[in-house]
Amino acid sequence: MFGFGQLIAVLKKNPKKIVFTEGEDARILEAASRLLASNFLHPILIGSEEKIAIAAEDCGFNIRGAEIIDPEKYDNMDEMIDMFCELRKSKGVTPEQARHTLYQANYFGTMLVKMGIADSLLGGATYSTADTVRPALQLIKTKPQNNIVSSCFILVRPSATGENEVLAMADCAININPTEDELVEIAGEAAECAKIFGVEPQLAFLSYSTHGSGAGEAVDKMRNAAQKAKIKYPDLPIDGELQFDAAVSPRVARTKCPDSKVGGHANTFIFPDISSGNIGYKIAQRMGNFDAYGPILLGLNAPVNDLSRGCNASEVYSMAIITAALS
Ligand SMILES: CC(C)(COP(=O)(O)OP(=O)(O)OC[C@H]1O[C@@H](n2cnc3c(N)ncnc32)[C@H](O)[C@@H]1OP(=O)(O)O)[C@@H](O)C(=O)NCCC(=O)NCCS
Repeated sequence: MFGFGQLIAVLKKNPKKIVFTEGEDARILEAASRLLASNFLHPILIGSEEKIAIAAEDCGFNIRGAEIIDPEKYDNMDEMIDMFCELRKSKGVTPEQARHTLYQANYFGTMLVKMGIADSLLGGATYSTADTVRPALQLIKTKPQNNIVSSCFILVRPSATGENEVLAMADCAININPTEDELVEIAGEAAECAKIFGVEPQLAFLSYSTHGSGAGEAVDKMRNAAQKAKIKYPDLPIDGELQFDAAVSPRVARTKCPDSKVGGHANTFIFPDISSGNIGYKIAQRMGNFDAYGPILLGLNAPVNDLSRGCNASEVYSMAIITAALS
């Protein structure tokens, strides 16, 4: 079962560099100081060297050894502008527009990953999800075999036996109303993500209906998507449409879907849309005592992740490790 020790062990064998777009933020500085105290993940802080030094001193965090890059003083800005214009040539971006855009830390940091100067990026302590994710969609882009970028939350609840309970939920943060085919892709990516965290994925396509107990377009969408996913991923246990109780409670599953192999045991949940997904993971987090890690972006060519603006330093530290371990 998942523990951060496993991810840290991976990084110790192969240390990585991670960009933090909000270099002056106290939570980022605290997480960076913790990372610098070990040597498996090297932070690159974006911002003014002077302002970052003052902020770190004010907060009492030792960030000696951190790489600080100020977009306005970056030596290779011309090379970055050329590459940015090339990547956005279909949009007719001029070098002047590129320079203006690249002075923004979210775009600048994303280009550092694109240019191979960093392995991954973590932002969103102050930027919105859209402003953190959009540069990655435009510049890092989807993997060749993928059609969309999606996301997954990993939920971890320590149990009395010492075995963590680990679940995956998708897509709770990116695709607002995914199509059947997009749900199939989201399910495949979420299953791969779940495996990284030690989960043997059992996928439930969630709905307000179990095996035809209810009717409607939204029910058809989840049933059809589950059917398509079973064909695309024959080795994965998949079922749907399932209500959440039928998906997780063996007793309810015996009544509502007695022939289902997944019913009662699901651990990887595919939601019909972002509203249900986002509300669902937050209920698990706030009322079910699960720690929520994510959104972990899936399907990008390099790992970029988004923090909640309400995050604390400990969450920044954990997400940095998760993000880097995926690179
Ligand atoms: C992801 C999101 C930010 C994209 O919004 P956007 O930037 O307004 O989207 P646009 O349609 O303008 O697309 C911008 C670029 O991203 C690409 N893109 C958009 N969604 C994409 C996806 N799911 N996968 C891959 N690429 C995507 C577009 O093709 C476009 O590329 P281009 O500029 O090269 O043509 C939007 O879907 C969103 O706001 N999702 C919800 C985020 C949220 O609020 N989450 C809840 C809090 S966690």
